[in-house]
Amino acid sequence: MSEIPGHIAIVMDGNGRWAEKHGKSRLQGHDAGMKAMKEIVKHSSVLGVEYLTVYAFSTENWKRSAAEVSGIFKLLVKYVDQELNELHENDVVVNVIGDYHSLPAAAVAALERSLTKTAGNTGLHFNIALNYGSRAEICRAIRSISVAVREGELAEDEITESVVSDFLYTANIPEPDLVIRTSGEKRLSNFLLWQSAYSEFVFTDVLWPDFSPAEYERCIEEYSRRSRRFGGR
Ligand code: FPP
Repeated sequence: MSEIPGHIAIVMDGNGRWAEKHGKSRLQGHDAGMKAMKEIVKHSSVLGVEYLTVYAFSTENWKRSAAEVSGIFKLLVKYVDQELNELHENDVVVNVIGDYHSLPAAAVAALERSLTKTAGNTGLHFNIALNYGSRAEICRAIRSISVAVREGELAEDEITESVVSDFLYTANIPEPDLVIRTSGEKRLSNFLLWQSAYSEFVFTDVLWPDFSPAEYERCIEEYSRRSRRFGGR
């Protein structure tokens, strides 16, 4: 098949519109979205993708109703309960980017179980962005860099792009080759702003719950037809 990107990042959008279209509740839409996510994680391992990062909950998503927010975190716990053993058997490494410690306690516990259990694996790196926003991530990095400078661990002229990268949640994760956004929206919405400077973007009209392995492969094919020059010729 096509050239497989080493790192694919996905903005999983359209659960609410899918629910509306099918006469279901928003939470039923997220439940369907979780099922799509399960399949895409499995298919990423099958394709040999090394890193998959999904935008599951942004720093802005707290503006939604309390019922929707708590429902999303219950789904996260359900996902971990249902899938952790299989993720582990498939050699997947689970990682979280974002300030996940302020999520509901049951979600934090489920995430920590996942991180601990899969830490020694060597297959797909599955990064879940939770309470994540790029601007908050960059502010956090600036604060940490300021402390390092103040304490004499770092000189101002040593603050290079690679140093900034090392202070982001994604330190040690290669930059995304391909960013996919579903549901026809064409924006980044505060996702991986720094990291996607040279990424390719593929937008599909498919709503996230309908995003199938076949559509995933179609997006990868679109990516592999592009030629990437990273600012060169
Ligand atoms: C975007 O659709 C989706 C989200 C904000 C939540 C993503 C959640 C899942 C895929 C399922 C749960 C899984 C985990 C790991 C928490 P939207 O609600 O913005 O859709 P809309 O724009 O059509 O309303």
